[in-house]
Amino acid sequence: MASATPTPDGWHAVDRYFADTLVGHDPALEAAVADQRDAGLPAIEVAPVNGKFLHLLARISGARRVLEIGTLGGYSTIWLARGIPDDGRVVTIEAEPANAAVARANLDRAGVGEKVDIRVGRGEHVLPQLAGEEPFDLVFIDADKESNVLYLDWAARLGRAGTVVVVDNVGRGGAVADAGETAPHVVGTRRGLEMLGDDPRFEATALQTLDAKGWDGVALAVVVRPGSVS
Ligand code: DHB
Ligand code: MG
Repeated sequence: MASATPTPDGWHAVDRYFADTLVGHDPALEAAVADQRDAGLPAIEVAPVNGKFLHLLARISGARRVLEIGTLGGYSTIWLARGIPDDGRVVTIEAEPANAAVARANLDRAGVGEKVDIRVGRGEHVLPQLAGEEPFDLVFIDADKESNVLYLDWAARLGRAGTVVVVDNVGRGGAVADAGETAPHVVGTRRGLEMLGDDPRFEATALQTLDAKGWDGVALAVVVRPGSVS
């Protein structure tokens, strides 16, 4: 029975309905999730509807060069790589070598391996190495939330006017709006959102999400003034 108040059973049913109706069965993605579970990676990859959202953003924006911070097992990476042309490139940064190995196998099996460059290392070390390359058209930030400000700064430096920036996990079960919540990942998320609101390099918004992973949110921004803070 439909109701005005979302319940976990209700929103899971709606998420399944959306995923079944609009995303469908996808052997490469399902195998990627299965292998990442078998390898013991945490079950924190984006939900299917969210992966397809990233894919559509890549297509809508005509992205050719995508930067992802936080590969995990490559689930979102597959979605992004499928959204760019054959001569495009996803550069994805993963701090954990074991995760990168799972991602490499998943990407190759999905047939997008040649479009994806996995850089193993912490974002703070890898990102400066990308300066001087062609700018990125889309940046997806989905790593340690404590570093979101640093990652957003790099998104502006490695982007161009018009670069699309997406930040995962900005709602976190409502914790982001709880001023008494001092967990470092929540504080980091909040600092990132405040930066998106204040920093003249970005125009941004955020949407709450209720999906297979629960109550969370996604921030969406565009770079309006690329470069370092002046
Ligand atoms: C966590 C991280 C994520 O990127 C996510 O989507 C969900 C949970 C975490 O670190 O707990
Ligand atoms: Mg995430």
